[in-house]
Amino acid sequence: SDLIALACALPKAELHLHIEGSLEPELAFELAAKHGVTLPYADVEALRAAYDFNDLQSFLDLYYAGAGVLRDADDFHALTRAYLQRAAADHLRHVEIFFDPQTHTERGVPMEDIIGGIRRALLEAEAEHGITFRLIMSFLRHLSEADAIATLEAAKPFLHRIDGVGLDSSENGHPPSKFERVFALCREYGLPVVAHAGEEGPPAYIWEALDILQARRIDHGVRCSEDPKLVERLRAEQIPLTVCPLSNVKLKVYPDLAEHNLKGLLHGGLVITINSDDPAYFGGYVNDNFIACIKALDLSETDIVQLARNSFTASWLDDAAKARLL
Ligand code: ADE
Ligand code: ZN
Repeated sequence: SDLIALACALPKAELHLHIEGSLEPELAFELAAKHGVTLPYADVEALRAAYDFNDLQSFLDLYYAGAGVLRDADDFHALTRAYLQRAAADHLRHVEIFFDPQTHTERGVPMEDIIGGIRRALLEAEAEHGITFRLIMSFLRHLSEADAIATLEAAKPFLHRIDGVGLDSSENGHPPSKFERVFALCREYGLPVVAHAGEEGPPAYIWEALDILQARRIDHGVRCSEDPKLVERLRAEQIPLTVCPLSNVKLKVYPDLAEHNLKGLLHGGLVITINSDDPAYFGGYVNDNFIACIKALDLSETDIVQLARNSFTASWLDDAAKARLL
């Protein structure tokens, strides 16, 4: 339809993308062959067929296993380059991407190779396609705060190449308050903070992300709807939510996209953005997410334009760059 064509063609930003979650099965098999490692699946089709999840944890188990094929800077470069080609095709003008260093340093991959490979692809895409970027280092919340602090220390020589910090992985049982000290350190280093909260976890985790970690943006945040005072705060303070519709359906946060609350939150005046989260695993990139929402939620032209604008408003671009894009 015309609305789908409009959404696809509009300039947009993506603010919630795990680079490890953009690993398509074809590249996973290519890298496995390169490194002489065996994936426990016969072929690309068998791996893709395994992408049938019950919840966040069942996805994370596969996501961390898949990341095992990423071993050198060239691998991270190839991964990021492939994502940015999709980003350019979807008319993304700006991306803010997460990487999970602990998944890789644990396997002996040097921090320098992870950041260097990702960044080389980001700089190339900026030159080739004009896509600007921010790089966000995310801590794994199922690990200890001490592990996160050690990771921050390991990243210290590269902090000029990191634009902010985030918090992801298994949410329930791992509240933001578990990471109060490491995020205080991050803020001392001048790093802006975002956090996954209210994806599977309760509204209390969103309050903690805001009040204890001083997050300036909430990743997912969809369970805010259970707490009207929280919704009012997110609206009053215009704290953006990076919503990931196809992810929420794949991980059974919502039984069906038609049940999703993003349109209600948008109409309530919250700064809602649409993002892909882990596009290789969840069945789509940014435009696929827009298309699915247009179909399931009957979004209007005004809604679509607002969502695209919000993606720039909620970004960490400076005001001059936002003014050029809005
Ligand atoms: N890591 C990658 N994708 C994630 C998600 N949707 N929630 C939490 N951690 C993640
Ligand atoms: Zn995420």
